[in-house]
Amino acid sequence: MKFFIDTANVDEIREANEMGMVDGVTTNPSLIAKEGRDFKQIINEICEIVDGPISAEAVSLDAEGMVAEARDLAKIHKNIVVKIPMTIEGMKAVRTLAGEGIRTNVTLVFSPLQALMAAKAGASYVSPFVGRLDDLSQEGMDLVEQIVSIYENYGYQTEVIVASIRNPLHVLESALIGADISTIPFSVLKKLAAHPLTDKGIEAFLNDWEKAKK
Ligand code: E4P
Repeated sequence: MKFFIDTANVDEIREANEMGMVDGVTTNPSLIAKEGRDFKQIINEICEIVDGPISAEAVSLDAEGMVAEARDLAKIHKNIVVKIPMTIEGMKAVRTLAGEGIRTNVTLVFSPLQALMAAKAGASYVSPFVGRLDDLSQEGMDLVEQIVSIYENYGYQTEVIVASIRNPLHVLESALIGADISTIPFSVLKKLAAHPLTDKGIEAFLNDWEKAKK
């Protein structure tokens, strides 16, 4: 399974990249706003750090506006993937952009039929938001399971990015289901590496090593 990092913070991206954990990056307008810096400047910097798909989101609501934004964003770097919201206008934009060879990531997906539509329109990626469904007492991972089955049934090439990840179990379940990608916040990525028995083991080994030297 590929790991994308779900942040617009370049320090986090750099550190995760040094760990060899970054196959791609996803951003959204909220993550960009948190940085308090120019959108394109941030995206440019990310493109310099990571050699993999980098999602930047269009904010227009009409297909024409989304397509214009997408063309502009795609000029920044060959790795740019344009995030398009899962709406009827979004589907029109995805279809046009697929025809032009501009890759899209259909975002804010909350049902398997939305994901099927995104694949039919020609999306390169689809992003089911598991955490936001869990917040409403709906099993977010059930959605991922359904999307993966549907895409397998019909051989769609659209890759499933599990998004809105809140904890390590979301990543584990994504891998067990066979989702293509998990996009992981930096805080969760660090938790994946942690285990108290690892820390305890290191401490014990170092203590014994000190004794052995005496
Ligand atoms: C990534 O593509 C999504 O925009 C992001 O994972 C949403 O996460 P949130 O639900 O925690 O805001």
